[in-house]
Amino acid sequence: MSAPITKAVIPAAGLGTRFLPATKAMPKEMLPVVDKPAIQYVVEESVAAGLHDVLMITGRNKYALANHFDRMTELEAILERKGDHERLHKVNHSTTLADIHYVRQGDPLGLGHAVLRAKMHVGNEPFAVLLGDDIIDARDPLLTTMLTEQGKRNASIVALMEVDPSQIHLYGAAAVEQTDDPDVVRVTGLVEKPSAADAPSNLAIIGRYVLRPEVFGVLEHTLPGKGNEIQLTDALQEMATTPEATGGVYGVIFRGRRYDTGDRLDYIKAIVQLAIDRDDLGPELRPWLRDFVTTLG
Ligand code: G1P
Repeated sequence: MSAPITKAVIPAAGLGTRFLPATKAMPKEMLPVVDKPAIQYVVEESVAAGLHDVLMITGRNKYALANHFDRMTELEAILERKGDHERLHKVNHSTTLADIHYVRQGDPLGLGHAVLRAKMHVGNEPFAVLLGDDIIDARDPLLTTMLTEQGKRNASIVALMEVDPSQIHLYGAAAVEQTDDPDVVRVTGLVEKPSAADAPSNLAIIGRYVLRPEVFGVLEHTLPGKGNEIQLTDALQEMATTPEATGGVYGVIFRGRRYDTGDRLDYIKAIVQLAIDRDDLGPELRPWLRDFVTTLG
């Protein structure tokens, strides 16, 4: 049996231009989703799947990120003095959550380039990649399923979700073959952000991957693709078509709850959806929202 996977890589070096001016001096990963920065959901998901070793690939403005996952002794002392243990726990939680490491991306040359920056830290073992724009509901444990499939098939695994064909140009799209398991497909090809006409299917890669370390060698020779960026999808396309050398690629079909925080409209929807389900906010938000909707006519 192979050793269990322990490492997660979280690319967090995007410029966040869609959220300017909020992201002028702060990374978009720090935008609050209800009352937690988006990135904390992702780290919590990683830890819940047993991956406690987290490498963040950061860009400019990394300080807010590093501070969030560090101690904040002054604030802790004040809350301690007040006896406010509930808030003290909230402050401490992100500090004790995971063993977090940071590496700078340097030039922002694309997601594939960001993942390649993890090579030294990850070494020669499979690892997970979690993109911060996607929040997967903690009640629908996708990553755990992907880790199990990786162990079973010794391939690289991507998370796939059916999207409306009009949306496929926003994602990597997969050509697939069925397997014996209705929730797992063999990926035969991948295209980054195709037009609806060129898409091989309406199965979109959502931001979760469990990759074999062979991906690093492939990324080293992957040329800039869509948007003139080094695309992770292009490296995975090569792996999907060279299974003998790289282990091939399988897809886990996700049918659970996913919240996109990548643009302003989806971000607003994500906050409402997550707040509605919370015990502390839902009971008041639901009736207010119902009333508010009626005023819209
Ligand atoms: C990235 C990937 C794309 C994937 C998407 C998931 O794109 O390049 O293949 O489908 O994440 O969110 P981005 O949204 O960063 O442009």
